[in-house]
Amino acid sequence: MAGKTLNVISICGSLRKGSYNRMIMNLLQGYAPAGLQIAEAPPFAEFPLYNADVQNSTGFPAPVQKLADAVRAADGVIFVSPEYNFSIPGGLKNALDWVSRLPNQPFAGKPIALISAAAGILGGGRMQYDLRRCMIFLDALTMNKPEVFIGAASQKFDEKTGQLKDEQAVGFIKQQLAAFAKFIEQHGGKN
Ligand SMILES: Cc1cc2nc3c(=O)[nH]c(=O)nc-3n(C[C@H](O)[C@H](O)[C@H](O)COP(=O)(O)O)c2cc1C
Repeated sequence: MAGKTLNVISICGSLRKGSYNRMIMNLLQGYAPAGLQIAEAPPFAEFPLYNADVQNSTGFPAPVQKLADAVRAADGVIFVSPEYNFSIPGGLKNALDWVSRLPNQPFAGKPIALISAAAGILGGGRMQYDLRRCMIFLDALTMNKPEVFIGAASQKFDEKTGQLKDEQAVGFIKQQLAAFAKFIEQHGGKN
């Protein structure tokens, strides 16, 4: 697998335009090592609330299929998300709930990396551990280290340019992306 371009998708847990997590997501390609291509996943903003009756009557909504197909086709998935009330933002959790009900469940065996930015000093750590727990149930392969938590997010970005001003945080993300490329080469391609 060495030398092959790895195609990874990123999923942002925040829907707001000025999102710090979206800013990070937009910066990822610039921090990635050669050979790691990162594209934004199809959106989940229009997913209805998960309801098994909808699934059983009209089937899976087209945007759910689209995201699931993108996850299946990707060599890995990077979640970049804030923490809401010490856990996974509802919209993102709803998206995972929909995708998880598809046959040939897309996250099974999929390499996953987690990044979070949040207002609190723990930088979304509690969200990450809840997301890890979901990924265990879905049989994904979530990379353990390096972890990236960006706390006090409002002080770390240039709101006008979208640049991450904290050099230490930039360094952590670069290290994580380099590790993720190796992780995919070692553990990916199993689904
Ligand atoms: C519903 C809600 C719940 C939140 N809960 C937390 C929390 O548990 N921990 C935390 O650090 N920040 C929390 N915050 C603040 C977010 O970290 C902050 O708004 C952050 O900028 C959101 O990420 P974004 O900029 O990517 O949209 C919460 C914000 C909202 C809107």
